[in-house]
Amino acid sequence: MIKKILISGLLSVCVASSLSAAEPKAVESKVVKPKAVELKEGMNAMSGSLYDLQRSLLTNDKKVALSATKKLRTQLDSVIGNEKTIKALLPEEVKHKSSIAINSAHLIEKAITKIEKTLNDRTMNAINKQMRTQKAYLAIQTQCFRCHNLVRDW
Ligand code: HEC
Repeated sequence: MIKKILISGLLSVCVASSLSAAEPKAVESKVVKPKAVELKEGMNAMSGSLYDLQRSLLTNDKKVALSATKKLRTQLDSVIGNEKTIKALLPEEVKHKSSIAINSAHLIEKAITKIEKTLNDRTMNAINKQMRTQKAYLAIQTQCFRCHNLVRDW
């Protein structure tokens, strides 16, 4: 019993000291890594919504289209819609391009609103609705590619 207590006591001391020894490293990696991860997660989330939106326009599914635009708007706001957030998320060498991000976010937001208004317009005929929403979808995609071309060099 005593042996057991001693061992567990010793163990907790070891764990505690190894934890405190590891602490500076953990803090250090918190500063660099999570931001890149956060950015990638946000981007992947937007990519998922954009895919849903594309599918919904190909299948003429208004319900899915409206839920995809809703999701995309929220993701956009949290990833690239706010200059402070995007500045913190962008890699050091492209930080100065944060105003481009804000501009892209603004144009994507406008296209999202256009899709929503068009789909909810009871007076517009089907072919016009389709052409308008498709055009707005392509405008969103153009903004995604535009920024990627600026931040990547492959
Ligand atoms: C402000 C610039 C900017 C805009 C606008 C932008 N992205 Fe990104 N995107 C980035 C950066 C920076 C990265 C991370 C670095 C890299 O992968 O080159 C990234 C990475 C990604 C990735 C790869 C994530 C991973 O796991 O590697 C996907 C997918 C993506 N973006 C999708 C999108 C979609 C979809 C849109 C449009 C709705 C979009 N992006 C708009 C800057 C942008």
